[in-house]
Amino acid sequence: MNFSKTLIIWYLENKRDLPWRRTSKPYFIWLSEIILQQTRIEQGKPYYLKFKKTFPTVFELAAASEQEVLKLWQGLGYYSRARNLHAAAKYVVEECNGEFPSSYKELLKLPGVGDYTASAIASICYKEPVAVVDGNVYRVLSRIFGIATPINSTAGAKEFKAIAQKLLDKEMPSEFNQGMMEFGAVQCKPQLPLCSTCPFSGICVALKDNRIKELPVKLKKQKVKKRHFNYLVFISEAKETLLNERRGKGIWEGLYEFPLLETNREVSHKNLLMESNDHIYAAVKEQSLELYNEAPIVHKLSHQHIYTKFWIVNCRELPEAGIPIENISHFPVPALIDKFIEAYDF
Ligand code: ADE
Repeated sequence: MNFSKTLIIWYLENKRDLPWRRTSKPYFIWLSEIILQQTRIEQGKPYYLKFKKTFPTVFELAAASEQEVLKLWQGLGYYSRARNLHAAAKYVVEECNGEFPSSYKELLKLPGVGDYTASAIASICYKEPVAVVDGNVYRVLSRIFGIATPINSTAGAKEFKAIAQKLLDKEMPSEFNQGMMEFGAVQCKPQLPLCSTCPFSGICVALKDNRIKELPVKLKKQKVKKRHFNYLVFISEAKETLLNERRGKGIWEGLYEFPLLETNREVSHKNLLMESNDHIYAAVKEQSLELYNEAPIVHKLSHQHIYTKFWIVNCRELPEAGIPIENISHFPVPALIDKFIEAYDF
C-alpha cells in the first residue's frame, strides 16, 4: 500500500470544515497553529475567531499592548505562548515589513516558532516538503509501525521526525501533514480508536499485536509539586480591591492576581495570620476575614498542583492604592481567578 496516498485520500474525504482551512495566508495559519498547540480544535476555534476579528492583520496585533493580547488569550494557559505571539508579530512588522518569512528556516527565527510550527506553516502556506510531528503524528506512526521509542525523548523526536519526513508526499505536503494530524484526532484517537473503519487496519502493527493501549510510549514525568495559594480579596467601602501583577519568570508572568500568601500547607483561619509576612499581617489583622471556599480549588499544571483558597477581607479603606472592582475585567488574570470573579457576587 502507498501510505501517503491512502492518508491523503482519507483526509480529503474526512476533513472537518474549519475556519483556518479556508485560507493559506500565513498570518492566519500561524495564529491557528499557535492556538492549536495549546488546546483542542473545538476549544481553539472561538479563540482563533476572536484573534482574527480583533487583529485582522499582523499590524494590529503588533500594535496592541501585551495586556490586550494576554486578555484575549485568557483561559488557554501557558501565557509565554501569548507573549511570544505578540513578540513574533512585532518581529514580522519591524524586521520583515509585515511580510511573513516564507521558508521553514526563516520561520524558525520567529519567537515561539519551533520545528512543529515552522513545518506546519511552510507546508500549508508554501508547499515546502517538511513533515510536522505533533502528539497526533506520534500516536499514528507509533501504532501503525509498532515503534516503542519514547516520544518525549531526544531519540524519539529524531526517529519520528525522520519517519514522517520519509513518508511525506513531497507534492502535497499540506494535505499530508494536515491529514496526519486530522487522522490522529478523528480516527486513531488516544482512547477507543476506530480500527474497524481504519484504512490502515491491514498493516497496523499495534492492531495486529494488540498493543494499541501501550503505544505510543511516554516516559514518566517528574513528581508534581503541591503548592498552597491564599488569595486576599480586599473589598473596601468604596468598592475597590487590590490586584498585583505577577513578575519574574514562572507561571502567570504578566497576569494579575489578588495579593497572594503562599503557604507550605493548607491553612485555617488562625494559621493564615500566623503565616503572613509583616506587610500582609498589618493589612489584615484588624479586618474581618472570611473564607470563601472551605475546600481548596485545585488547579493542575504539568509540574505542579495549586490548591487555592480565597479569603475575603472587608475593610473600610485599602492599605494601599487599589482599583475599582467594576474595572476588574479589564485585567488579564489566570483562569482560576477569572472563575472566582465570575462566581463571586461583589
Ligand atoms: N492540529 C493542529 N493543527 C492542525 C491542523 N492544521 N490540522 C489538523 N489538526 C491540527
